[in-house]
Amino acid sequence: MRHLMSPMDFTTEELDALFDLAADIEKHPDTYAHKCDGKKLATCFYEPSTRTRLSFESAMLGLGGSVLGFSDANSSSAAKGESVSDTIRTVSCFADICAMRHPKEGAPMVAATHSRIPVINAGDGGHQHPTQTLTDLLTIRSLKGRLNNFTIGLCGDLKFGRTVHSLIEALKRYDNVKFVFISPEELRVPDYITEMLSELDIPYEEHISLEDTIDHLDLLYMTRVQRERFFNEEDYIRLKDFYILDKKKMKLAKPDMLVLHPLPRVNEISVEVDEDPRAVYFKQVQYGVYVRMALILTLLELV
Ligand code: NCD
Repeated sequence: MRHLMSPMDFTTEELDALFDLAADIEKHPDTYAHKCDGKKLATCFYEPSTRTRLSFESAMLGLGGSVLGFSDANSSSAAKGESVSDTIRTVSCFADICAMRHPKEGAPMVAATHSRIPVINAGDGGHQHPTQTLTDLLTIRSLKGRLNNFTIGLCGDLKFGRTVHSLIEALKRYDNVKFVFISPEELRVPDYITEMLSELDIPYEEHISLEDTIDHLDLLYMTRVQRERFFNEEDYIRLKDFYILDKKKMKLAKPDMLVLHPLPRVNEISVEVDEDPRAVYFKQVQYGVYVRMALILTLLELV
């Protein structure tokens, strides 16, 4: 039985197969409409979510399966003090596969070790968010036609943003990918990541200014400041509007630079950018459903 804790759990060949399957689902959704008849997905979400949970649910429903779960720790037995390992043992009796989001780093991993069904990490604290990374990679592959030979800027909260951490982990395996990290000093990408890139001889730069760097980029991955991981509200208020991508900054960018964002957006991308054809963050949401359909089929060994 296979779980998904990190994007590194799949080899690049396995990722290619997953993306091919997702692309086929996009083209021929009807072929897949009954692949999960009789199967159940449990969504165990101990932290808020709109996209990830509904995307998983939409994916399972699109495959003909059913969904059950909770979207708030307070409405589950966690509020009574139940451990994640007891919860997953219970959920294993109710469902065939489980997507779990938890504020504590490593909680889905603990669940996986006690589970009788595949567990998917749907975001664990500030650590990893592998299915967002699958979404990001499928978006880049579909819209750019490749996962190599580009310069990607990652901008915003690079310290607490788990989507950023997972995406760097995954992209380090592709050829000629250069990273440009754009953040305030306090929200720099963690040292373990820059050390890993240095060891692998993968080029990266760190900058504070988005204006000064945007013209070099083939992809710009914007992120929100992760309010829920801050220790105090004043720091959040000071940093929350540090970057605002607007039409003026988009004029400095390459004509084919894509803007991605895992969403939710707060103020970091002005709504006036939404009409720019380079803004693909809502397309990204749609790719997220296809890739989760492909993932569910793969983990349930239905392909
Ligand atoms: C992200 C997350 O939860 O980490 N959202 C998502 O799942 N698309 C990004 C965020 O919350 O900023």
